[in-house]
Amino acid sequence: MAKKKRILVLHGPNLNLLGERETSVYGTVSLEEINQLLEAEAAKYGFELDTFQSNYEGALVEAIQKARGKYDIIIINPAAYTHTSVALRDAILAVNIPTIEVHLSNIYKREEFRHKSYISGVAVGQISGFGVQSYLLAVRAAAEIIKSKSN
Ligand code: DQA
Repeated sequence: MAKKKRILVLHGPNLNLLGERETSVYGTVSLEEINQLLEAEAAKYGFELDTFQSNYEGALVEAIQKARGKYDIIIINPAAYTHTSVALRDAILAVNIPTIEVHLSNIYKREEFRHKSYISGVAVGQISGFGVQSYLLAVRAAAEIIKSKSN
């Protein structure tokens, strides 16, 4: 039997406060609930899915580095590091794992400083503005990427 495909979901700073933090922007669903929804969605496609949240840029860089040889796809909501982090961008480039960028809010509808993403230029694509559905759509996109690779 073919080896199960593995997805790593990374959540950046302050996303541990989802459900309590700026609920008018980010909604009332907690990170734990999002992770459960993601696991269930991935299971529908027969994928294994692991999640990791950190408020530290270096910890996220290390998680990306360690994904090498272990994960087939990365889904990342880099949160505020989206708009600042060359280190995360370089880590994604270094490991060469297809990466999908996710945002709960539509970053282009918000303050100007959120319009710039250091990640989008190295991601397969970006999903922004659909709340929790942004993450679930990313699992669907991951399935498409995996399918197109195995053809
Ligand atoms: C976010 C958007 C970022 O601008 C912000 O810093 C976040 C969350 C989102 O999911 O909409 O923390 O990535």
